[in-house]
Amino acid sequence: MSRVHLHDLDFELFIPEAEVNEAVARVAAELNVKYVGKRPLFVGVLNGSFFFAAELLKRLTIECEITFVKVASYHGTSSTGKVTDLIGFNERIEGRDVVILEDIVDTGNTIVHILDLLRDRHPASMSIATLLFKPDAYKQQVTIDHVAIRIPNDFVVGSGLDHNGLGRNLPGIYRIIPN
Ligand code: IMP
Repeated sequence: MSRVHLHDLDFELFIPEAEVNEAVARVAAELNVKYVGKRPLFVGVLNGSFFFAAELLKRLTIECEITFVKVASYHGTSSTGKVTDLIGFNERIEGRDVVILEDIVDTGNTIVHILDLLRDRHPASMSIATLLFKPDAYKQQVTIDHVAIRIPNDFVVGSGLDHNGLGRNLPGIYRIIPN
């Protein structure tokens, strides 16, 4: 499928599934080295990170744990920057090496807010791994430690990312076709 119509918008295939998988495997290889012997706790940010979390974790050979957290920050095709508190996060992370898993880092507002909230719980370390990163949209100073794929500042869906609830199931990454 090279074009899809979701709600009011059209999208075209931008990054095929095989390329996404290669990029995820590269990040897994980095993490397998960095966290060997540390038993990191991965924290997937729902809903979008479920795909990246699954593809990444099946490529990890280290001992690790995973949990998920929910925040709300995004409506329509542009980021609002509003983030509510962490929902459903009851893990004890004091002294743990925590790796936050995101589907996409856009302005960076969400990830910085999550970092602030987790820091209050005194982890031993925190790092960020994301499937997609939009460097041209990024407004924060925090380094994004592990990036699978850098993309231009276009709205995308697929591989866990949605347009108002649709498109998360699409393999690969689809880019909006401007009308
Ligand atoms: P940020 O706070 O601007 O970095 O946005 C983070 C959240 O916005 C992500 O976790 C996504 O849910 C959503 N988002 C940002 N860009 C896109 C996109 O191109 N497609 C779908 N969702 C996006």
